[in-house]
Amino acid sequence: MTGLAQRTGLAQRWLPSLLVLASAITLSTAAPAQQRQLRVISDRTDQGTLRPILDAFEARSGAKVIGVFMDQGLVNRLESRPTEADVVITKDAELLDIAAQRGLLEPIRSAKISAAIPAQFMDPAGRFFVDAYRARVIFYSKARVKPSDLSSYEDLASPKWKGRICVRSGSHDYNLALFGMFYASFGEAKARAVISGIGANLARAPKGNDREQARAIFEGKCDVALMNTYYHPLMAANPEQKAWADAVGVYFPSQAGKGTFIMRSAAGVTKATENRDLAVALLEYMASREGQQLIVDRTQQYSVLPDVAVHPLMVKLGAEQGLVNGRFKIDFVPLDEMAGQREQAIKFVNEIRFDAER
Ligand SMILES: [Fe+2]
Repeated sequence: MTGLAQRTGLAQRWLPSLLVLASAITLSTAAPAQQRQLRVISDRTDQGTLRPILDAFEARSGAKVIGVFMDQGLVNRLESRPTEADVVITKDAELLDIAAQRGLLEPIRSAKISAAIPAQFMDPAGRFFVDAYRARVIFYSKARVKPSDLSSYEDLASPKWKGRICVRSGSHDYNLALFGMFYASFGEAKARAVISGIGANLARAPKGNDREQARAIFEGKCDVALMNTYYHPLMAANPEQKAWADAVGVYFPSQAGKGTFIMRSAAGVTKATENRDLAVALLEYMASREGQQLIVDRTQQYSVLPDVAVHPLMVKLGAEQGLVNGRFKIDFVPLDEMAGQREQAIKFVNEIRFDAER
């Protein structure tokens, strides 16, 4: 009891000074209330790689960057809560095209960005720009497929691939983007033939994410899969998935034809921003050489600046197919030609019951 009484007495004596100390701490953490804050909304979640870029900008600018992350529904969120964010960063530039059409974006108006970003990666009205891209390509079993067996996306619809293809849901954004590009590049009749041909050649009903398809190849359930390029280095760096990465090669389709399809990441400033200068500063950082290098290093995507080298792991993978410095020919479908194509793809995927059990 005595000890407790002593401790209680001590606490009574110390408490006031502790309170003073506590309020001092509160004050010192409250001080950065004047610190400028930038709010970013983004659907770049599964790569888990945007935060380091935001952190680097925080360190440079002294501003605090608060992120709101979500997987789906970015444009609807922006529309329903327009004042929530200053900057919007997406894995799919098509979404910013839609957001821009709905009046949710403010023209960026930055001489630095206009000078740095090649025209094909800039929204013609200057409301967003593509900051990086990756390709949706064919991953193949190194044990059962030779690169010379592969050629184009269309070839995956031929009978030689019967029962050998794996893919995630035909209704997932990645496949809808790819199928939309089929419509834009091949025309409707051929796009439908290729999509239904791939559907007819599936080894199993579509399921899982992109990496699950590489796992299925590793487990011998199929021989080829449609996947995004950056998943190879991501799997290789993950001890539980390294065997999946080791089992597959990466093939860039249609290099002898029109080229491989890319998926574009993009960024813009929201109409409702009250932090315009800081918002533009973040985008300028993302468009800078340093920012681009960081994006390549952290996301294994491709830079939009021609003088920023391809990620070494992607260079190595491309070399297996004879690509030089990891560079590949792109079938570049302008975003405004994508309008409406995705809707057609959605309808067709449902019509042929692409995701049904076989
Ligand atoms: Fe992804």
